[in-house]
Amino acid sequence: MLILCIESSCDETAAAVIRDGREMLSNVVASQVDVHARYGGVVPELASRKHVEAISVVINSALEEAGVSIDQIEGIGVTRGPGLIGALLVGLSTAKAMAWMLDVPLAVVHHMEGHILAPLLEDAPDFPFLALAVSGGHSHLYRVDGIGRYRTLGQTLDDAAGEAFDKVAKLLGIGYPGGAAIDRLAALGNPKAIVFPRPMLHRPNFDFSFSGIKTAVMQHVKTCQDPIDDQHRADIAASFQAAVVEVLTRKTLRAAAAEGLERIVVAGGVACNSGLRSRFSELSEKHGVKVYFPSPALCGDNAAMLGVPADYYLENGVHADNKINAVSNWTLDTVGAD
Ligand code: KG4
Ligand code: ZN
Repeated sequence: MLILCIESSCDETAAAVIRDGREMLSNVVASQVDVHARYGGVVPELASRKHVEAISVVINSALEEAGVSIDQIEGIGVTRGPGLIGALLVGLSTAKAMAWMLDVPLAVVHHMEGHILAPLLEDAPDFPFLALAVSGGHSHLYRVDGIGRYRTLGQTLDDAAGEAFDKVAKLLGIGYPGGAAIDRLAALGNPKAIVFPRPMLHRPNFDFSFSGIKTAVMQHVKTCQDPIDDQHRADIAASFQAAVVEVLTRKTLRAAAAEGLERIVVAGGVACNSGLRSRFSELSEKHGVKVYFPSPALCGDNAAMLGVPADYYLENGVHADNKINAVSNWTLDTVGAD
């Protein structure tokens, strides 16, 4: 089955063509990052307008890159939520209109479901597995027993990991979005230079909290000379990243052990982080687990990742009707039950 997938939940307009839920024929992403950078964060109304401008161009590029004509498309997959409501509505309305026009079925997908199933487009892990989903809006641990079978084991009680990276980058004056910038700067610094807190690390649950680390960085920055010298800035980035990575890796490995899971998927934009990748690689053998990271193009927001669940739902007759609406808040646990 040839599926066209559309994603517009935040600040990336994306479309992809996927064959049989596994073969990626194209994966086109138009980022709005330059538009939002001057405001230091995503401006929802601007995001919606930019999606409207970009969506047909992105869909046409995805079809062209895949070498597929529009009438060969047999189904449409789209992100229904969670995300910015105006942004989601652009993708969902386009998907509904195309499904109606082409007379093909429509499948709606949870944004995080796409992220955690992205590795199935590459080096596919078998079910069940544990998923650590870390992005700008999420820091969640899920047990994944199959497509549509998800259980939340823990989540952040305040900031998401990516949000903490973005806020600390702003404090250090290294731009937006900050995750990749901190990652690059951290490579030049000493991760042991400053000991930032590791919140929730010793709590016997699988929840996270990142706002305390961010506040500790803010307090540290206030004690620094202005401007902060380059080496010290790199040391702060490295020490902050080390604290976040330590909490994420330790709690994830503990959750895997508690659930008896030997496979771990790390997904979402923060899964690009080189410190997180190398620490998981170091710890995985010792803990007897295999850790799967999607390649960088599949970590950040994209539409190809929707192809895995969309194909499954369409093949199993789980079709969305044309009255379906977008949802800004949506728990992954309820997806299969909808
Ligand atoms: O999954 P994603 O592209 O969008 C959301 O669904 O939020 O994740 C974006 C987040 C941003 O907060 C960004 O700063 C972070 O992922 N990020 C990183 C890295 N690359 C992107 N965080 C840490 N290290 C990176 N290399
Ligand atoms: Zn995302």
